[in-house]
Amino acid sequence: MKRQILTALFTATLATSASAGDPAAGKVRSASCAGCHGVDGISVVPKYPNLAGQNAGYLILTLKGFRDGTRENNVMNAMAKSLSDADIENLAAFYSSLK
Ligand code: HEC
Repeated sequence: MKRQILTALFTATLATSASAGDPAAGKVRSASCAGCHGVDGISVVPKYPNLAGQNAGYLILTLKGFRDGTRENNVMNAMAKSLSDADIENLAAFYSSLK
């Protein structure tokens, strides 16, 4: 019984981490975002939003919205066009991990 519970927990943990994105891969992908949103997710220019510490779920929804055009912004629509679902999850994991 104990072993079954442990196996279930372990499987659940694996499933969660797989869908949560990889912050290290997100950091690499964020090179093209840093010019506006900052290397550490703190924007260098006041008109660009900070991303550090933002909720991962919000970042995923927002980036998918920019990609499919349901959220309109010329700059971000262009930036998000080339992002895959995995890129978006990794970027969300990276920025949400920052303070
Ligand atoms: C040329 C500057 C520029 C670059 C490069 C850029 N962004 Fe943005 N980003 C903006 C601007 C401007 C906004 C505000 C858009 C708006 O008002 O809707 C924004 C908004 C966002 C938001 C929404 C923030 C919020 O609080 O709602 C996210 C998430 C985001 N960018 C992620 C990224 C990611 C990830 C990249 C790299 C793939 C990136 N951006 C590259 C300028 C940029």
